Amino acid sequence: MHDDWPAILEVHRRAFVDEDIPRLVEGLRSGGYDVPSLSFVAEVGGSVVGNVMHSWVTVEGTDRRVLQLSPLGVLPEHQRQGHGSNLVRAALEGVRTFGEPLVLVEGNPAYYGRFGFVRADELGLRPPPPSPGWAFQVAVLDESVSLPTGQVAYSPPFRDL
Ligand SMILES: CC(C)(COP(=O)(O)OP(=O)(O)OC[C@H]1O[C@@H](n2cnc3c(N)ncnc32)[C@H](O)[C@@H]1OP(=O)(O)O)[C@@H](O)C(=O)NCCC(=O)NCCS
Repeated sequence: MHDDWPAILEVHRRAFVDEDIPRLVEGLRSGGYDVPSLSFVAEVGGSVVGNVMHSWVTVEGTDRRVLQLSPLGVLPEHQRQGHGSNLVRAALEGVRTFGEPLVLVEGNPAYYGRFGFVRADELGLRPPPPSPGWAFQVAVLDESVSLPTGQVAYSPPFRDL
């Protein structure tokens, strides 16, 4: 995975069209907030065309930390070919295997809803301001575990965006 870092940064630079998300990726990595074993790439012909990462966020007033899926990006010329969906499915399976009962995401419900994400505030996980409630979602992967509730707080690289 280490060898993929330049290609991963380039994926996010071109998918999001500016430097904010590559800076976020660098910040998550250098600050130790990311989970390297939960970073997945999509490849075509041996080249990286997509990436999804995970990092830890906290729930205020508790000692619980929770995984956040972000960022997810696919190179523009490789979009709408299923790579994004494959990455999200690999991400959810990876989080389940990792042993975490849930994963958060901030994004378009029209996209993430198809993978089982629902509004997080309806399950008691409030979005970190100023994130809008409609965009802050959670996928529950293990219904048998009691979920943390409260105000979610992003790590510094997210807050600096
Ligand atoms: C979002 C993204 C990762 C999807 O990757 P992809 O490889 O094109 O996704 P897939 O081919 O698996 O799925 C494409 C489907 O998602 C839909 N879709 C893509 N981006 C979407 C978005 N932002 N909101 C809602 N739907 C979206 C497409 O309309 C398509 O739907 P269809 O299958 O019904 O036609 C990619 O478009 C991307 O990198 N976008 C720029 C970065 C970004 O916005 N990332 C998400 C941040 S939360």
